[in-house]
Amino acid sequence: MKIAIYPGSFDPVTNGHVDIIQRGRHLFDRIIVAVLLNPGKKVLFSIEERLDMLKESLKGMDGVEVDAFTGLLIDYAEQKNAKAILRGMRAVSDFEYEFQMALMNRRLNRNIQTVFLMTGMRWIYTSSSIIKEAATFGGDISGMVPLIVEKKLTEKIGYSPNHGKSKE
Ligand code: PNS
Repeated sequence: MKIAIYPGSFDPVTNGHVDIIQRGRHLFDRIIVAVLLNPGKKVLFSIEERLDMLKESLKGMDGVEVDAFTGLLIDYAEQKNAKAILRGMRAVSDFEYEFQMALMNRRLNRNIQTVFLMTGMRWIYTSSSIIKEAATFGGDISGMVPLIVEKKLTEKIGYSPNHGKSKE
């Protein structure tokens, strides 16, 4: 059984994340989507909200589960018996951070490999932060996030897709 951990902040989950999970499932029997529980990081959604949105977005996806973790990712991966850490890579700008993290994780545990999937072209400009920023000012983000996330953004920050549109 090949298990991979797909870690992240998921504040909130985007369709780019869902795409990586779906494609990752072709490589791994089981994917554990692991949300970092880091009280020091400024987030929009609470850990419970982020877990709920992920669970709803991934509902019915066989071999995929959602969990929270704290501390070192590599320790969590070992504890879960995972052989790989799955990460998505969008553009060159992601590379340095991802490279650094992958090398540090490898130094900490050489038995766990980091596997990168290039993001789908459709999601190349999608990130949780840009989505939150656009949604805050009423920019239409439909199709970039699961429906549950649109709903939660409406509840949380009053997201309304027409709000930011020019009337002309
Ligand atoms: O979605 P993100 O914010 O890019 O995800 C970053 C994440 C959660 C993968 C990373 O911050 C992480 O693994 N944090 C846990 C601590 C750790 O193990 N850091 C890497 C080696 S020092």
